Amino acid sequence: MAKGEKRTKSLSNNALFIFLSSIFFVIFKNKVFFLGNVLGSSKIAAKLFEETSVMLENLHMKKIYPNLAVILVGNNPASELYVKKKKIACDELGIEFELLRFAENISQRDILQIINDLNHKISVNAILVQIPLPKQLDSSIILNTVSPLKDVDGFTAFNLGLLSYGKEEIVSCTAQGIVKLLESTGTTIEGSNACIINHSIIVGRPLSQLLLNRGATVTVCHAKTTDLAMHTKNADILITAVGKPGLINGDMVKPGAVVIDAGIARKNGKTVGDVDFESVKDVASYITPVPGGIGPMTIACLVNNVAKLAMLHNQ
Ligand code: GUN
Repeated sequence: MAKGEKRTKSLSNNALFIFLSSIFFVIFKNKVFFLGNVLGSSKIAAKLFEETSVMLENLHMKKIYPNLAVILVGNNPASELYVKKKKIACDELGIEFELLRFAENISQRDILQIINDLNHKISVNAILVQIPLPKQLDSSIILNTVSPLKDVDGFTAFNLGLLSYGKEEIVSCTAQGIVKLLESTGTTIEGSNACIINHSIIVGRPLSQLLLNRGATVTVCHAKTTDLAMHTKNADILITAVGKPGLINGDMVKPGAVVIDAGIARKNGKTVGDVDFESVKDVASYITPVPGGIGPMTIACLVNNVAKLAMLHNQ
């Protein structure tokens, strides 16, 4: 075979391989198996970090130095870890980070006073109250005492209300991170059936609005949902954030669905999500790993929200 002919043949073989592998599924004994792409977030999170770094450079040029104040009550190990990761990200980008730690038994009155002080402090432009809070505290009152202009989580009624009006200003970092990761796959959200297993203000509520804004038909499942599998099997996009290992297995997933696992739990000394990765990976078209899936996106969205708030304040 001539040299040129050999090259053409190998090019066409390559093209065929790329074409076949881009379909992502195989048919075996009349059953379709999807070769689930593992949807890690490191590249997308790094891109968002880069964008935030440019926003911060522009702010620094105007002598604006964004600052995040974090309120941490008690010593919940998971919260300690999340806050540590938030600090590392802020340090990396040159965002000033102020950690205010309080004992588990702090009173509602004291914490409200602290938030009010931060609301009035000019050097603080973003406030985060790490949740969950101890039982004696009323989370909804506390979160709504944060000024909506400094509400970096988008948890206030004002910012959640804006979101229900379709205005995505300051939105929960986890919910935003999920949508950004989903969009990175090129998945068509408009007209799709999306199922979210979580109804918190961190994930389920804001995420349902983000997906509605993009034209999905959204089902929100929770502890009182009677037939979970009925909903999950109908979902083109399945998002779970419960913290229950093995909650979702391959039989509960629609072939070709995008599966995003924002659950976090410890099992046999390992960090795991809600999804039984082994059985779901051959059914889903995309599946996020735990760890390495949603976690890095949440942190990247947080630093981005800090920069966004600083820009909004100084417009
Ligand atoms: N606890 C778990 N996730 C979050 C989050 O995104 N924000 C806050 N404030 N607390 C959390």
